[in-house]
Amino acid sequence: MIGVFDSGFGGLAVLREFLRVLPHYDYLYLGDNARIPYGTRSDAVVLKFTQQAVAYLFAQGCVLIILACHTASSKALRTIQQKYLPLHYPENRVLGVVIPTVEEALARSVSKRIGVIATEGTVASNSFKIELRKLDPTVQVFQQACPLLVPIIECGEQDGEVADLMLAKYLTPLLAHQIDTLILGCTHYSILKPKIQHYVNSGVEIICSGEVTAMKLADYLQRHPEIETRLSRNGRRRYLTTDLTPRFRELAGLFMREEIEAEVVQL
Ligand code: DGL
Repeated sequence: MIGVFDSGFGGLAVLREFLRVLPHYDYLYLGDNARIPYGTRSDAVVLKFTQQAVAYLFAQGCVLIILACHTASSKALRTIQQKYLPLHYPENRVLGVVIPTVEEALARSVSKRIGVIATEGTVASNSFKIELRKLDPTVQVFQQACPLLVPIIECGEQDGEVADLMLAKYLTPLLAHQIDTLILGCTHYSILKPKIQHYVNSGVEIICSGEVTAMKLADYLQRHPEIETRLSRNGRRRYLTTDLTPRFRELAGLFMREEIEAEVVQL
């Protein structure tokens, strides 16, 4: 199975893209809804929570796990790849969303002035900046933490005035830097893509990590038959969550664009 992990619901939007591009594989989704948000937590806590989730998904039979959560990809992925995997699951793989997104942003940017919007934790980790600069040391990166966007979306206010106000506050400084490409560096922000596109207008290319990661995953699986041949292909999906609140159905439906049934698990 392919495991997909997120701090909550947002990763369902990433999974949706995987299902569109690679529908025949079996997927196991895990959202840590009991402990969301990760975006305001320390490096040590994000690492601990993510490692617990990864261990759980491997124990369920996943061979490959994608960290759909940008905060986990930024703060925990490297340590998991370098320390946890070689010790516990040397044959398995954990991948994130930052590197595929960065590669695509660099391919599409002409001026090499790239904006990044993300959670406080992702911005503080500088993960996007570091990875962009590794691939192109001349690139100029302008980051903006957007701590209110996740709660606005989770409260169902994504179409309202408060979303417009906050987007204006967060995007205006980035536009002043004359970016030509904007990375949506958080699972939730794809929900706001039409509003963001409207605000930045057509001169700015928007990079959505879900779409990009799905394309790059297809490419990765072609290049790695040692992983691909171990994946089951029955088109099955299972959804796990660490908390099931009355609003689960509504929020999961917002990201997945269809109703899902989830099982509650403890990590
Ligand atoms: N999933 C997180 C991310 O992509 C956003 C929600 C949170 O803060 O946990 O960064």
